[in-house]
Amino acid sequence: MNDTSIDRSGSARLARRMERGAAFLGSEVAIMAGAMSWVSERNLVAAMSNAGGFGVIACGAMTVELLDAEIAATKALTDKPFGVNLITMHPDLMALIEVCGKHQVGHVVLAGGLPPKGSLEAIKASGAKVICFAPTLALAKKLIRSGVDALVIEGMEAGGHIGPVSTSVLAQEILPAIANDVPVFIAGGIGRGEAIAGYLDMGAAGVQLGTRFVCATESIAHPKFKQAFIRASARDAVASVQIDPRLPVIPVRALKNAGGELFTAKQREVAQSLDEGAVAMAEAQLAIEHYWAGALRRAVIDGDVEHGSVMAGQSVGMVTKEEPIADILATLMAEAAQALEARAA
Ligand SMILES: Cc1cc2nc3c(=O)[nH]c(=O)nc-3n(C[C@H](O)[C@H](O)[C@H](O)COP(=O)(O)O)c2cc1C
Repeated sequence: MNDTSIDRSGSARLARRMERGAAFLGSEVAIMAGAMSWVSERNLVAAMSNAGGFGVIACGAMTVELLDAEIAATKALTDKPFGVNLITMHPDLMALIEVCGKHQVGHVVLAGGLPPKGSLEAIKASGAKVICFAPTLALAKKLIRSGVDALVIEGMEAGGHIGPVSTSVLAQEILPAIANDVPVFIAGGIGRGEAIAGYLDMGAAGVQLGTRFVCATESIAHPKFKQAFIRASARDAVASVQIDPRLPVIPVRALKNAGGELFTAKQREVAQSLDEGAVAMAEAQLAIEHYWAGALRRAVIDGDVEHGSVMAGQSVGMVTKEEPIADILATLMAEAAQALEARAA
């Protein structure tokens, strides 16, 4: 092929940069809609995959029977590939993997910590590809040695459970070292296509977005949950704060609300009870751990955006309206193509 036969348009450049990631996912474009508990169910997942992206079911705390039904229902809505996100701490993890195998799910995403013994092997034996989250370069290398097929790097700008490091720093540290070994998808804080183009240029195979897809028309999130997203700006999406080192708090990024303030008050109250010897350590820690139980469901499904957990990333300020997921995807792709074209000019 001589030089003049190469299509130098922005969209052709974008397609070339996404080729590896899209081939890995089996989708048209290398954009994943990251699993979001209660939000990423059959409707959003199927709509994302039908639009040419890659949807991922959030298993969360679902039972084996519920996941079985959810996968079957998603397959009824799309014949395109989609993935299933399983939380490694789920007590029935191996049975959930079996259900994915029964449905010949092509990609299983393991979230919430390092994969327990035997889980990678079980997923691969079912014929599915395994995607894991890599919080550091050392763990990324370890996961690759263990046989994962692809990695997601997620920075602290993201909605939901987060680590301490930003997406841009993780991408700079991890991509140059491993992007040739396995496809790497970048997540956290991506709201526009220009950022997608940037990470692809740095060697990413693709990206994963969550926050940007919550207000898709096809998302079943409660209208009040969507409205909270549309109203919010980046600085409203804050990480939960731990106020006492004795009481562990899992960092979660969510919109500021009364529930968050009461949580801080609760930590103070429990810490004081500990000081006074009124409660034992285990009991105190459990009180903190259980505080948010069911809170995401209350916000997403019931619309209690004041006391529920409105998990959202910092890109929430770039969510300005409810629109079909195909339109969101088209906008992101157009912005990315334009950015690549402008850079080349
Ligand atoms: C409401 C909400 C719920 C989420 N639930 C999960 C989950 O169950 N499992 C998971 O691996 N990630 C979860 N995430 C993270 C997303 O999959 C995705 O990686 C993240 O949203 C990407 O960053 P962004 O929000 O900046 O786009 C959740 C995110 C949000 C906003």
